[in-house]
Amino acid sequence: MVSATEPTNSGVQLVKAAGPAAAAQDADGNVEAGKETFEQCGVCHNVDSDEAKMGPSLQGLFKKEKLTNGKPANLETITTIIKQGGNGMPGYEDLLEADEMKNLIAYLRTI
Ligand code: HEC
Repeated sequence: MVSATEPTNSGVQLVKAAGPAAAAQDADGNVEAGKETFEQCGVCHNVDSDEAKMGPSLQGLFKKEKLTNGKPANLETITTIIKQGGNGMPGYEDLLEADEMKNLIAYLRTI
C-alpha cells in the first residue's frame, strides 16, 4: 500500500483559475456610467421603442438575431460597429476610452 502521508504539492500553485482577464472584457462595465455615455447615441437611436430615428432602434440589441448588416448580434460585431461606424453611423473608436466602451456595452446589454 502507498503511504497516505506521501508528501504532495502544498497546493499553493493550484489556485490559478480564470484570471481577471477572462472576465474583464465586458462583464465588469458600469451600467449607470454606460447609460450616460449612451446619451450621445440617443439622438440617433431609440432604446425604449422599436421606432427608428436616424439609426435603427437598439431595443433588445444583444437579443437580436441579426444586425442590420446581417451579422449575428454579439460583443464582437456590435463593438466593431460602434468603433467603425458606417452608413450614417459615426465611428467612436477615437471618441470613447476603453472604460467608456466597456460601460457602454454593459448598458447595451440591459436594453
Ligand atoms: C448621427 C446619428 C448616430 C449616432 C450619434 C449614433 N449612431 Fe449608431 N447608427 C446610426 C445609423 C444611421 C446606423 C445604421 C447603419 C447601417 O444601417 O449600416 C447605426 C447603427 C448602429 C448599430 C447597429 C444596429 C443594428 O441593428 O444593426 C449600433 C449597435 C449602433 N449604431 C450603436 C450606436 C452607439 C452605441 C452610439 C453611441 C456611442 C451610436 N450608435 C451613435 C446613426 C447613429
